[in-house]
Amino acid sequence: MSGPFPPPAQPITRRTALGLAAAAPLAAALACRREPPPPAGTVVPLAALPVGERVRLLHGEQPVELLREADGRVTARSLWCTHVGCEVAWSEEQSAYLCPCHDGRFGADGAVLGGPPTRPLRTLAPILRDDHLILPFESG
Ligand code: FES
Repeated sequence: MSGPFPPPAQPITRRTALGLAAAAPLAAALACRREPPPPAGTVVPLAALPVGERVRLLHGEQPVELLREADGRVTARSLWCTHVGCEVAWSEEQSAYLCPCHDGRFGADGAVLGGPPTRPLRTLAPILRDDHLILPFESG
């Protein structure tokens, strides 16, 4: 005697049913997998960062320099002097960041070279997403 539906290709055994039950949450998790939402921050297209060129921008009120390396890494450095907070500027001739307020000097890596500052220039941690970079705003 046959019903209105054709018989299943394979009988569903207890083992098959358990396997399907175990696979269902995984399939659901994969279907729902997304990148976490990007943090709030300054968004910069990578196309705006030519390799080897120092790009200054404002991150909130903070002047920041972005430097994209040939290997794809991007260094984000605060340009606020760690002495009293004047804005430093990169000097190609002196290979140093120079502070106009009290003659503070910082090396290419942000380390103090001279003057009153005692702490290096601060670096930020940019997040690379596809074709852009995000400088997250700090909370607190
Ligand atoms: S604020 Fe830069 S050296 Fe004083």
